[in-house]
Amino acid sequence: MTDEKKSATLNISGAEYELPILSPTAGPDVLDIRKLYGQAGVFTYDPGFTSTASCDSTITYIDGNKGELLHRGYPIDQLADKSHYLEVCFIVLYGDLPTAAELERFESTITRHTMLHEQMQYFFRGFRRDAHPMAIMVGVVGAMAAFYHDSTDINDERQREIASHRLIAKMPTIAAWAYKYSIGQPFVYPRNDLDYASNFLHMCFAVPAEEYQIDPILSRAMDRIFTLHADHEQNASTSTVRLASSSGANPFACIAAGIACLWGPAHGGANQACLEMLREIGSVENIPEAIRRAKDKDDPFRLMGFGHRVYKNFDPRAKVMKQSADEVLDLLGVENNPTLQVAKELEAAALVDDYFAEKKLFPNVDFYSGIILEAMGFPTSMFTPIFALSRTVGWVSQWKEQLADPQLKIGRPRQLYLGQTAREYVDIENR
Ligand code: CMC
Repeated sequence: MTDEKKSATLNISGAEYELPILSPTAGPDVLDIRKLYGQAGVFTYDPGFTSTASCDSTITYIDGNKGELLHRGYPIDQLADKSHYLEVCFIVLYGDLPTAAELERFESTITRHTMLHEQMQYFFRGFRRDAHPMAIMVGVVGAMAAFYHDSTDINDERQREIASHRLIAKMPTIAAWAYKYSIGQPFVYPRNDLDYASNFLHMCFAVPAEEYQIDPILSRAMDRIFTLHADHEQNASTSTVRLASSSGANPFACIAAGIACLWGPAHGGANQACLEMLREIGSVENIPEAIRRAKDKDDPFRLMGFGHRVYKNFDPRAKVMKQSADEVLDLLGVENNPTLQVAKELEAAALVDDYFAEKKLFPNVDFYSGIILEAMGFPTSMFTPIFALSRTVGWVSQWKEQLADPQLKIGRPRQLYLGQTAREYVDIENR
């Protein structure tokens, strides 16, 4: 990876420092500043980490200018088209396409870890019925460390493996139960004869009183939503998982931290915020006003589901999602859905507007996902939990990769201090 011949020279007040340049297999070169503070006594300043590579990784590659997303080298559109979520999980987790036997073994392992410890039901029951399912997920996933002691030793490779499988397998059950609890319905246990996506739909929508038929088109759409969210390199929640894990925290605590970060409207919460925005716009006549507000610097309103830190051309996931939205709404006979109409017109209006063109703002994965999920019967509060369950494989893969890295160090950023310098404490009677 390192090209020893490449380096950069930094000149600070006449003193020169050689900085090695590392070359990746794809993407821009990286300036290695690890020794900079020791040698030159200066830090670098990069709020939001817009120019900082926090680790090396072999899992996911994004070329934001080309609109390219690769998992272990495989383009996302091919995976969405030809593969399915559990195979994508295998690829992301283990680095290569599985053989038929490997895939069968992996699917069987995940399927056989889907049940939750029965005692965990009491955690759900402790929440208010109107709790947001993300609040429940943060709590319940963190609480897994109290139930699965035999997979919390991060120094044991086998335990790390079991924790990864448990998290991928149990997350749909946790998300579905958070939903069932919020609507006052009985928890539905997983069914091992169903595939991953169908089982999730079953746990969300089946009731003991009657048979629930799973439509294969909806189950395929669900699987695609999972696939499109599987991993996204060093985004905010993944970086949160890595930072939490760098201290040696157990896997369940680390993934709970990732879920907490994902909850925010600038990250995983954007799909909920986007659908709420589309509903608020309500009809096509109100689009010009929404565009005007999004461009107004004095108005905090932003077009949710638009823009991305890395994609500055288009988000390849959004293309597949738009196609899925058409298929699902067509199947459900809601092709004249007013929210979809507003979404399509809003996208068209923003794409020809100079403001969005100049700032390279395009629809992201969240722009259409909410419309599909709503059509499938999910309330908006379930959108981010579905993102969280899909992203679990990315989090655990990045977590495993980090722990296997011999260079692992606790994450500890520095700061540009702008506060008071040392001053004398004054007793209260003299202030
Ligand atoms: N609507 C209006 N203006 C925007 C938008 C938007 N959605 N996004 C960015 N801008 C403007 C922003 O005001 C800034 O303008 P200026 O240069 O004049 O200050 C410029 O575009 C650059 O934006 P930024 O905030 O510096 O870009 P960022 O890389 O820090 O933020 C983002 C990326 C995704 C947080 C942001 O685009 C955003 O808030 N989008 C809406 C929320 C959203 O859809 N998030 C989901 C992201 S995809 C799912 C995921 O990976 O989690």
